[in-house]
Amino acid sequence: MQVSIIKEISSREQRVAASPESVKLLLRLGADVLIEEGAGVLSGFIDESFQSAGAKIVNRLECLKANICLCVQMPSKEDIDKMNDNTILVGILNPYENKNSFNDLIHNKITACCMELIPRISRAQSMDVLSSQANLSGYRSVIDAAEQFGKAFPMMMTAAGRVNPAKVMVLGVGVAGLQAIATAKRLGAAVSATDVRIATKEQVESLGAKFLMVDGSENLETEGGYAKETSEEFKIKQEELLSETLKKIDVVICTALIPGKKAPVIVKEQMINNMKPGSVIYDLAAIQGGNTALTEVDKLVIKNGVKIMGEANILNKLPVSASSLYAKNVFNFVSNLYDKENKKININLEDEIILKTIVK
Ligand SMILES: NC(=O)c1ccc[n+]([C@@H]2O[C@H](COP(=O)([O-])OP(=O)(O)OC[C@H]3O[C@@H](n4cnc5c(N)ncnc54)[C@H](O)[C@@H]3O)[C@@H](O)[C@H]2O)c1
Repeated sequence: MQVSIIKEISSREQRVAASPESVKLLLRLGADVLIEEGAGVLSGFIDESFQSAGAKIVNRLECLKANICLCVQMPSKEDIDKMNDNTILVGILNPYENKNSFNDLIHNKITACCMELIPRISRAQSMDVLSSQANLSGYRSVIDAAEQFGKAFPMMMTAAGRVNPAKVMVLGVGVAGLQAIATAKRLGAAVSATDVRIATKEQVESLGAKFLMVDGSENLETEGGYAKETSEEFKIKQEELLSETLKKIDVVICTALIPGKKAPVIVKEQMINNMKPGSVIYDLAAIQGGNTALTEVDKLVIKNGVKIMGEANILNKLPVSASSLYAKNVFNFVSNLYDKENKKININLEDEIILKTIVK
């Protein structure tokens, strides 16, 4: 079994699908590991580090001819056309936006495994890229907001006077939101959070933050643990609560998402107008349309002194950590594809993880 790792072609992508650690694990599984020259440079993994781990550094064409080809984002049409029949391509392939590429993959009989579609069941936790990457995004959003905030986060009692703790509010408490709460707490902020899923109240409180419940809150959670779209009545109540609360908040971290839909606009322009000048909003939902009315992707918008920021790919700011975790997720997925007894790849469609991840 040859497993290859190609270099990302998008200028907006700094991650790589392998780390020296994942290379060693792949070799232990019995694979030959081929890495495209320079594939890990932007993630801090130079070719020599992959070589010392046991990988062979090769050109792109050789990588594309391997049995299993690992990537972060969808490769180009030219790449797909060079792959062999029955190659298994593993990455965050985004089937909804890459329809043409999927047509090419199907036409060329390539098996496409979308890591973002891995079911969120206990057995697949170690392969869950949405969690591993959202966790880092939540952390980094607080660091970036703190950098833009002109005051300190922790309370400080000094001879020159008292510095009050920053008031941070997290909107949406999934994986990213929970990590944002934990990070802001570690930095010494006074943290509050809200979500439409009642189950998050306990999680927020267990991190030492305050949960803000929308009056008459219904539990808007699907069976899969995701948020449902809110009713008009709920939206009005949430708006009333946030309009008052945000006047006193220094830093807002937005993470609210509804799968398959545009992100809900929770922070209206009027609410931003009423916030204190110098406040910062980091919108992690920016690329899905944004949780604020004023978010612009990759731009720092300043309205009445309130800074609103959101990026296309915040993970580019910590590519080493993001690649290391992603590489481990991908290794665990490949390991599950490999029949260790018979020493061969087995696309077992009775395995829920494999079935739900392959797009045909
Ligand atoms: N392996 C596992 O079992 C596993 C792993 C990770 C996550 N999960 C679960 O998956 C679920 C989704 O997590 P995620 O991080 O992918 O979520 P997500 O990124 O889809 O959404 C982020 C958060 O935004 C909230 N939200 C949506 N609309 C909102 C609104 N209008 N106002 C306020 N909040 C709003 C959601 O409820 C969610 O908590 C959670 O239940 C999580 O515990 C399970």
